[in-house]
Amino acid sequence: MRRVLGVLLLGTVLIAATPTAFGGWAVVTLLDVPEYLVAGEETTIAFKIRQHGRQLLDDRQPTVALRDGEEGFLSKLFRLRTVRATPGADPTIYQASITPTDTGEVTLHIDTDLFRWKVKLLPMRVIAAGHQPAGLSPPDRGQQLFAAKGCATCHTKYDDPAFADYRVVQAGPGLGERTFPAGWLAQKLANPALSRSGSANGNIMPTLELDEEEIAALVSYINGGRTTVETGDR
Ligand code: HEC
Repeated sequence: MRRVLGVLLLGTVLIAATPTAFGGWAVVTLLDVPEYLVAGEETTIAFKIRQHGRQLLDDRQPTVALRDGEEGFLSKLFRLRTVRATPGADPTIYQASITPTDTGEVTLHIDTDLFRWKVKLLPMRVIAAGHQPAGLSPPDRGQQLFAAKGCATCHTKYDDPAFADYRVVQAGPGLGERTFPAGWLAQKLANPALSRSGSANGNIMPTLELDEEEIAALVSYINGGRTTVETGDR
């Protein structure tokens, strides 16, 4: 009897622990992040899923939900459209074609099909066909990338209200109100292994295959839009 109870208890503990302890979270990284979408036009987005920020997954059936307009009760009910993402020639790259219907804003929600782990990106502009909107400033583009590349899943950005209700696993050190020498930060983002800055619970920062434009925008966003004076070693 005791043994049975023990097994039952262990079972309960395991089930309770499953969502976070085993397999429970993933970092979603969009490859090319569009600055805006065009109403009525199809855009293909491609993304990778890294379990615990490390292991690239190629066996999921993720979905992308498109929420038009303001985030509100009504739009939650009526304005949600879901499309399935399918693996491309490289099975670790999932692709989904999305077509926003109205101009304004749209929010993408990606369900990784891994313990129902979902990631929400920041609202994206939807413009009318034939229009050419002003480009985002580097810090605004950096903010967009901070969500779309998956940084926001690991790092709390304390000083930015846009991430106030964001689901963060805090696998990395908190960011915000701290600035870094721009050169050092650019190098860190390009190749995190070059300068490990301690690790939280044994987590390490993954290489997210960022290009130069993305790195420059992220540096500008993290440093609050200012450029810091290069100080060499930190
Ligand atoms: C899987 C979680 C994870 C993701 C995703 C991630 N990081 Fe990190 N990051 C870490 C960890 C862990 C560290 C500290 C250990 C290390 O350097 O590897 C770190 C370190 C940093 C540091 C240095 C912090 C310090 O106190 O020295 C910065 C800045 C940073 N990350 C920014 C970013 C940005 C920008 C992105 C997105 C492009 C990103 N991280 C994506 C986990 C992550």
